[in-house]
Amino acid sequence: MNQPVMEGLRLNVPAFVKHQRLIAWVAEVAALTQAKDVYWCDGSEEEYDRLCAQLVAAGTFKKLNPALRPNSYLACSDPSDVARVEDRTYICSAKKEDAGPTNNWMDPAEMRSLLQTGDKALFKGAMAGRTLYVVPFSMGPIGSPIAHIGIELSDSPYVAVNMRTMTRMGRAVLDVLGQDGTFVPCVHTVGAPLQPGQADVKWPCNQTKYIVHFPETREIWSYGSGYGGNALLGKKCFALRIASTMGRDQGWLAEHMLILGVTSPEGKKYHFAAAFPSACGKTNFSMLIPPAAFEGWKVTTIGDDIAWIKPGADGRLYAINPEAGYFGVAPGTNTLTNFNCMASLNKNVIFTNVGLTDEGDVWWEGMTDTPPAHLIDWQGKDWTPAIAKETGAKAAHPNARFTVSAINNPALDADWDNPAGVPIDAFIFGGRRSTTVPLVTEARDWVEGVYMAATMGSETTAAAAGQQGVVRRDPFAMLPFMGYNMSDYFQHWLDMGKKLQASGAKLPAIYCVNWFRKGADGKFVWPGYGENMRVLKWMLDRVEGTGQGEEHAFGVTPRYQDINWQGLDFSQEQFNITTHIDKAAWAVEMGLHEELFAQLAYHLPAELPATKAKIEARLAAE
Ligand code: OXD
Ligand code: MN
Repeated sequence: MNQPVMEGLRLNVPAFVKHQRLIAWVAEVAALTQAKDVYWCDGSEEEYDRLCAQLVAAGTFKKLNPALRPNSYLACSDPSDVARVEDRTYICSAKKEDAGPTNNWMDPAEMRSLLQTGDKALFKGAMAGRTLYVVPFSMGPIGSPIAHIGIELSDSPYVAVNMRTMTRMGRAVLDVLGQDGTFVPCVHTVGAPLQPGQADVKWPCNQTKYIVHFPETREIWSYGSGYGGNALLGKKCFALRIASTMGRDQGWLAEHMLILGVTSPEGKKYHFAAAFPSACGKTNFSMLIPPAAFEGWKVTTIGDDIAWIKPGADGRLYAINPEAGYFGVAPGTNTLTNFNCMASLNKNVIFTNVGLTDEGDVWWEGMTDTPPAHLIDWQGKDWTPAIAKETGAKAAHPNARFTVSAINNPALDADWDNPAGVPIDAFIFGGRRSTTVPLVTEARDWVEGVYMAATMGSETTAAAAGQQGVVRRDPFAMLPFMGYNMSDYFQHWLDMGKKLQASGAKLPAIYCVNWFRKGADGKFVWPGYGENMRVLKWMLDRVEGTGQGEEHAFGVTPRYQDINWQGLDFSQEQFNITTHIDKAAWAVEMGLHEELFAQLAYHLPAELPATKAKIEARLAAE
């Protein structure tokens, strides 16, 4: 066994690790952070069970009642560490303009001094008293030409076990990496070193947080948070921020998109990739069950959050889900909103920040109509419906999550793990808008589709820290996840379209949807969930060239008679509320597009203001 010894620290390198550059880097980070020990994850079930037992012993995990929720755990975080911290997230490109106006930026040398090299650098000694876990992971099927490998060094066993569910993790990844393979280095610490003899807390973290990306060297350094996308670095940090820069440089796309398959009763299969901002129902949409009237139609899940998309030899775009599990929002999930998801959660789940029932099971707001008479809430306090009514206390934090393997999903697509990916027929972009944006619109061409995606807006949710319910522009649902200048990303999409078109391949169609329009009574008009199949079917008809619709200023929207309403009582009047174009509201909306373009003026592709001018001319003529 290869075991270099440094200042008393054994690196514990297993025989299966052959990559000298990796070993040297682990040694360097262990020395910088003064970890007490190094543990190389092999990804085995035995290892998972052992680390979970260790988390139970430390008080971080509670084992749930195995009769009700086999092999499942509940973790409750520090109340200050419950969501992604966008204001602490940095893109440290060499040039500020390459990070663009939508990202926090710091000079890379200054950031490295703050994190790694300065006298008081945050990572110096940050893992003292803790084990450094080496977590090798593949984003995408191991060895797929669309996949890429990362190695996360973390002092959090919670991260190690979550990464095993969320990625293909362990020894098989190192086997593919071999002696000299390329990987994205990801360093994570909770930023809570332990002095000898000092007792640990259940959820160590630090009030100071930095989630930092160095795009040129493709590195991630994350300090101070143990939660979700701040800490599971394969997800937002690698699969979106770093991968988007890789995609720009190498001619592919890393997108905040679910991927789903739709199979017709005749067995014809289509694939959609759909971008929605966080907590807008992506997981639900990716697992939807078609209504009874759509007998014989099947929707299957390839991914629920992220898509990596590369052009194939035939000129079409092929997508993989780089993840292997779902880190979904629990509140609001129930057997009606997402039957398949609830079935996925029957066993082998890590829950974070939900309520613990007296029977040792979990509960969250919206899980059942009748809440338990008593439970312990995510902050460890007694919770009853009466307390909730009086104080507004929530059993689960609104951003409470489950971590579960994709293989638990009864609607999992047979190709979800196919290294070749699936060919994309259409892109869907959606936001949460109570007014203005119609239920569904088809872009007339690629440029109009890029315009729709670039100008998307959405009302904010609890997935990110900050004020909720205000409309913010969220281009391509990528605002918090863009690894470079947003306008260069728009240009990348336009260039990809031109290249695909030049190759003679049929471009995917582009749609914009909004499930969230409200009526005068403030209630959602569109029933959503499984009924979204009706909208999907209209899109398929359009892709096949059989569907009809009405052209308007922004694209093509179905008329009432173009949608199959069988089995749903939804009147023409209700439909009109979901599709109505209010000219005054759109005048305001176009003003907001103008503001966005002013903000993104650096490198803004000329096609976008030109498209805007065309829309305005059409609006004026209508
Ligand atoms: C997520 C998010 O966790 O978008 O997927 O916030
Ligand atoms: Mn997401």
